[in-house]
Amino acid sequence: MKIISIANQKGGCGKTTTAINLSAALAQKGKKTLLIDLDPQAHASMGLGAVKTDPANSIFAIFLSEKEGSRKIVDLTKKIEIGLELVPSHIILSTIEHELKDREEGLMVLLRAVNAIEQKYDYIIIDCPPSLGFLTFNALRAANEIIIPLETSIFSLMGVGKLISMVELIKIKLHHAPHVSGLVTMYDEYSDFAEKMLHKIEQVFNEKLLKTRISYDIALKRSQESMESIFKYDPHSRAAHDHLSLCNEIVSRDKDETPENIFMEMRKIMNGIYGNMYTKEKIFKFYAPLAKNVYVAGDFNGWKMDDSSKLKKNDGGEWKRSFFLLPGRYRYKFVVDKLWFWDPENPKKEPNQYGGFDSIFTI
Ligand SMILES: Nc1ncnc2c1ncn2[C@@H]1O[C@H](COP(=O)(O)OP(=O)(O)OP(=O)(O)O)[C@@H](O)[C@H]1O
Ligand SMILES: [Mg+2]
Repeated sequence: MKIISIANQKGGCGKTTTAINLSAALAQKGKKTLLIDLDPQAHASMGLGAVKTDPANSIFAIFLSEKEGSRKIVDLTKKIEIGLELVPSHIILSTIEHELKDREEGLMVLLRAVNAIEQKYDYIIIDCPPSLGFLTFNALRAANEIIIPLETSIFSLMGVGKLISMVELIKIKLHHAPHVSGLVTMYDEYSDFAEKMLHKIEQVFNEKLLKTRISYDIALKRSQESMESIFKYDPHSRAAHDHLSLCNEIVSRDKDETPENIFMEMRKIMNGIYGNMYTKEKIFKFYAPLAKNVYVAGDFNGWKMDDSSKLKKNDGGEWKRSFFLLPGRYRYKFVVDKLWFWDPENPKKEPNQYGGFDSIFTI
């Protein structure tokens, strides 16, 4: 059973549209699919015609039962079409964070609830709210995959850093490392700006970006207005084609990734985001073929000499290491077998308090 949470705290980036139509596409492919609407806005529920749900029959009941009783996910499902069931949401879900946020077990409610379903479904898709609060944390904790929809604007990338930090926190504290993928949504292939943003997103996510892109298609808005998946509303639309491709890509994707590999990929994404947007690479080099150890110590690393500041020697006798640094003016020196040297290749130097000189650079 695969549990996929669709998350990005940026509002309006296509989470719900992806959740509805990926679920419908999976069902069309014969996969038993459950869509859980975890957003108090209840857009996924409305988009599939589930309006006027009683709170007691919504996902709220699962969280409430943490306090008062015991409801199971299977008691709350509504059949939408062959192979597709829905657990609807209700606006009252927005109050539950206040009730449960200080109780540690509150962060595990959804995980426990989906674990109790056992193997009834092939896929569970969770539509998250546009925030990084208690509900999204529950969804990330329950997921073994996270899809991050990204419309081609700088804001959707900026949110991703915080989301990945939350996933990293879950990995470090709870030893749970879901697979993370980016998905380009609302893509306008005729816009130069969208193309520019697409390159940025590609740089950040690399191979973690799903190959399928969801193009901008007004049929999606219309399908939501008529409360149907795109496959019912217009199966021949561009959007139906795109969501079917997305479904095929997800179903056929390589499943052999170990938690450690997944974690390394998340790190790469983090570095990509911050490297791309805020920091620049600075490479330090020092030629000393006979030296045993070379460090670079400066105010950017607290003048530390440890593994994090140690340079690596290449075959030509040159020691090298790169750092990603925020813009600013920095002082540094090389420490070669315990002796301090300013950088012979950098003419910029300033006297220091010890009567010597520090090398200087600006980013
Ligand atoms: N590919 C697309 N082409 C055209 N319109 C789209 C597309 N994807 C989403 N939309 C429209 O953009 C709006 C926002 O999409 P959606 O509700 O899926 O985003 P969301 O991330 O779930 O929003 P929220 O953060 O509020 O939950 C909706 O009106 C939806 O119909
Ligand atoms: Mg939504």
